[in-house]
Amino acid sequence: MARLVIVSNRVPVPKTRGAQAGGLAVALKEVLRPGAMWFGWSGRISPETSEAPYLVESRGVTYATLDLTKRDYENFYVGFANGALWPLFHFQPALMKFRREEYAGYLDVNRMLAQQLAKILLPDDVIWVHDYHLIPFARFLREAGVRNRIGFFLHIPFVPPAMMETLPRARDLLADLGHYDVAGFQTEGHARDFRDCMARLLGATVAGDTVTHQGRTTQAVANPIGIDAVPFEREAIRAVQSAETVRLAASLQGRALAIGVDRLDYSKGLPNRFEGYARLLKRFPEHLEKVSFLQIAARSREDVTAYRDLGRELDRLAGDVNGRFSEFDWTPLRYLTRAAPRRQLAGFFRIARVGVVTPLHDGMNLVAKEFVAAQNPIDPGVLILSRFAGAADEMTEALLVNPFDPDEIAEAMHEALAMKLDERKRRHAALRANVFTTTASAYASRFLALLSGKPVANGPSFIDDMLRRVAGKWPLDRTPLRRRAS
Ligand code: G6P
Repeated sequence: MARLVIVSNRVPVPKTRGAQAGGLAVALKEVLRPGAMWFGWSGRISPETSEAPYLVESRGVTYATLDLTKRDYENFYVGFANGALWPLFHFQPALMKFRREEYAGYLDVNRMLAQQLAKILLPDDVIWVHDYHLIPFARFLREAGVRNRIGFFLHIPFVPPAMMETLPRARDLLADLGHYDVAGFQTEGHARDFRDCMARLLGATVAGDTVTHQGRTTQAVANPIGIDAVPFEREAIRAVQSAETVRLAASLQGRALAIGVDRLDYSKGLPNRFEGYARLLKRFPEHLEKVSFLQIAARSREDVTAYRDLGRELDRLAGDVNGRFSEFDWTPLRYLTRAAPRRQLAGFFRIARVGVVTPLHDGMNLVAKEFVAAQNPIDPGVLILSRFAGAADEMTEALLVNPFDPDEIAEAMHEALAMKLDERKRRHAALRANVFTTTASAYASRFLALLSGKPVANGPSFIDDMLRRVAGKWPLDRTPLRRRAS
């Protein structure tokens, strides 16, 4: 049977310091069976790019990672991926910083990674590449002679042609996407924007969901990602008894909890959310001292200037809200800039009356789904959700808001805090049905079925095969390709 190879910028190598089961690791859990491999950046910066991957084996899955140099990291990760592509795809062209040398560095890293992977592939391996860091990856694999099926999934939004065109080299990147057999997007709108870009900017032929450019056909589909809802709900039920949730509940002193959990990223709409909360307290003073807002915003990508600027802006805004509205025994906004473990968040969500998820633009937003899965169906909290999160396509029973209008956020918070139990239950039941159906495993198996048309993984162990094959080429004592204790 074919083996599955996952490629992503970050690789969740088990038992590595700081490794957390991110959304992608959760989503792929069920398809990542023995025999599969996960390939990508080690997250480390070294004086030299690795000559060959470091290998870790865990539960029959091989994790193969390479170090980058500081220059690679700056051009590829800080520069083009997060300084140009991220703002562009999140509709923030004013924050987009394009530099030719960074784009060249982005291509170099993609080429290097693809060449390393090409050396260890078998002809029927199925390759699934993730996210905007790796758009040109398939082209470089093809140039290295790989003829396997290759799929791509974009976790962030895609943009219409007029926006795409603001990126210098947009046409080259679109042509690179044409090297994938399947391109997956979070929503039908994003998939359609991709097909429109291919047609309008490259003259590709679109027929149904397929795009043909220079003799190659890519199937462009919507395939929304989900969460592992049953275990998350179980986690939330258990976590209510945990020391942290008990402490949080006690600290509320009977007040309603509103909660937001995000990376500290300008796409998440945090300044407007803080202002929306301030407007709630000003316009609807009945909530003064009756609600506490807990915003967890894990610091992220601090080597990118726009993220540091946002951090300073939020410090100021949080101080402003608390300075204006606090009482000597009530702090309206609790603002934390460090990550919290998933288990802890599950408990916090369960005791929250309102979940505030108001990104300016977002591929999907799994916090919205986790909030819903964590609720107690007998007395559920209310989800406030941005219209511009991919999740809004499916989660229509949330209170949908335009996150560019702080007053609309304030009004939705007021409505949520005042909402009667019957309506809360009705909305939650509809949302819950969706979250428990469009799950992580449904996402992964649907994509793989499209990509391969047959079951994948459960192949022979990658690591043994690779060690056997490279042993002839490189003396093992001189190569970084080695099995590490897992
Ligand atoms: C988003 C992206 C992921 C990325 C994650 C964390 O969810 O779609 O590809 O891994 O953010 O960002 P970071 O830059 O820390 O990897």
